[in-house]
Amino acid sequence: MTDLRAFLACPACRGELSSEWTCAGCGARFTAPDGIPNLRLTGDPKTEIVRQFYDRTPFPGYPPNDTLSAFRARGDRSQFAQLLDRAIRADARIVEIGCGTGQMSLYLARADRMIIAADLSRAALELGVAAARRYAVDHVHFVETDLHRPGLKPASFDIVYSSGVLHHTPNPRLAFAALTQLVRPGGIVIAGVYNTLARVPLRLRRAVARFTRFRVVPFDPVLRDRRHEPARRDAWLRDQYQHPEERSQAQCSKTNPETSSPATRMTGPSSAGSRSSGGCGRSAAKVACS
Ligand SMILES: C[S@@+](CC[C@H](N)C(=O)[O-])C[C@H]1O[C@@H](n2cnc3c(N)ncnc32)[C@H](O)[C@@H]1O
Ligand SMILES: [Zn+2]
Repeated sequence: MTDLRAFLACPACRGELSSEWTCAGCGARFTAPDGIPNLRLTGDPKTEIVRQFYDRTPFPGYPPNDTLSAFRARGDRSQFAQLLDRAIRADARIVEIGCGTGQMSLYLARADRMIIAADLSRAALELGVAAARRYAVDHVHFVETDLHRPGLKPASFDIVYSSGVLHHTPNPRLAFAALTQLVRPGGIVIAGVYNTLARVPLRLRRAVARFTRFRVVPFDPVLRDRRHEPARRDAWLRDQYQHPEERSQAQCSKTNPETSSPATRMTGPSSAGSRSSGGCGRSAAKVACS
């Protein structure tokens, strides 16, 4: 089995971590409650609000009485997930940043891939670990960490995947720059952010929802499908309609002189492969790093 620590690092100084989760560089000590390493340093106030938000309603969650075959069938219905799976080598080292409850990491966990599923929210990671046990998937490693100061070794992943995350950070361009630090030379970063146009219907629904104080949320197919699943319904409602920190692609891509080098430029559909991913108006772009 892969030594997980070869892919982890102290979030404070990037030093190596011992088997007791102590940093060889700065001596900082970490823990791994319930087998999930906690390599998260306290973030800025906005990131902390986002963490608490997802700790209260982990996203997207799992349906009750879930099974591996039902999970696989759900994944196979997503053309995006299938294309991604086909495009990634069988022995790739992958990190998913902002994995939420871990669906994509678990879907990609085939063949000899080594996958780290990282997120700010411990509650989300715990649901991911429970699902991995339920499905008997053992090569996804869940890690609690903040992408701004990740407990992950720089330049050590073939694929860095992050969907639905950058637009919930205080400065998406800086967050994207942090992702590019993790990929090896020649590796690929795949990032999914809200597409401004695709979000127009949601924005209209959200205006009605807010105007009626959430008594009416019109025409949302996901809420309708989840009417008998209160936890997942609530997670969707909060994530889509009540998020404390949200931007769209246009806002994510605004030029920021601090981070405008080619390695950190966030590419849109015109300069990189782009696909629609998920049902909430995200589009994903891939960036090859040299
Ligand atoms: C909308 S959810 C997306 C979850 C998953 N990627 C998906 O597509 O279903 C956003 C996730 O990003 C995580 N997140 C937000 N800011 C983060 C940060 N600074 N570092 C790591 N994870 C973060 C949240 O905790 C949350 O689980
Ligand atoms: Zn250290």
